[in-house]
Amino acid sequence: MKMSGLKTPDYSHLHSEDFQDVYEPAEDTFLLLDALEKDAEFIQRKRPCVCVEVGSGSGVVITFLAQLLNNFSMCLAVDRNPKAATSTKRTAAQNGVAVEVVNSDLLSALQPHLHGNVDVLVFNPPYVVTPPEEVSRVGSSSIASSWAGGTNGREVLDRLLPHVGQLLSAEGVFYLLVIKENKPDDIRQILAEQKLSCEVLIERRAGPEHLSVLKFHHDPPS
Ligand SMILES: C[S@@+](CC[C@H](N)C(=O)[O-])C[C@H]1O[C@@H](n2cnc3c(N)ncnc32)[C@H](O)[C@@H]1O
Repeated sequence: MKMSGLKTPDYSHLHSEDFQDVYEPAEDTFLLLDALEKDAEFIQRKRPCVCVEVGSGSGVVITFLAQLLNNFSMCLAVDRNPKAATSTKRTAAQNGVAVEVVNSDLLSALQPHLHGNVDVLVFNPPYVVTPPEEVSRVGSSSIASSWAGGTNGREVLDRLLPHVGQLLSAEGVFYLLVIKENKPDDIRQILAEQKLSCEVLIERRAGPEHLSVLKFHHDPPS
């Protein structure tokens, strides 16, 4: 049970065989849930129409968001790994919430439809620093594609960043999980050029990783 009274979504229907291919909720996942919980009132007050999670894995994060919003919003999840897409559907169903799930490389298939319409965007990317060739070598169904981030652990994220400003609605927010090695200041700078401001919502050390959740939104008009 989380502090707000919202439970961590039930994922007891997923077993060790599923987690051979699909990212098992871990410290990073739970920090993202804690960040959404910390911002729960803010998110609920917004009454977002469209919430999108990129890289949904087991589906606990988008399911948590759908629960938080009491099925008010259209919740959409994408994952490149077809088994993760299936797990996300199962987790939403297990917890009785509606989530649309698409098997896609980032938002490629959907980007024109989402342009300017995303009220809440969430991403816990493959953030581990690896040799660059690891990112192209791993297949979409491989568990390694959950964590292999290439140079600075940013190669997957860096393909999404140029589109964030255009995707978000005027009041839209972007929650992004990063580690120190991802060079958060550099990410801030890239999004500042799209007129998005940043705050560190929550941070935590987990073993060797220093994890944080950054929250971005459009600058107020000057
Ligand atoms: C670190 S896991 C996070 C999973 C889940 N959101 C969580 O917090 O537990 C990253 C997820 O991104 C997915 N992913 C990796 N590359 C992707 C891409 N190019 N497009 C969509 N999803 C991708 C992986 O399959 C994996 O499910």
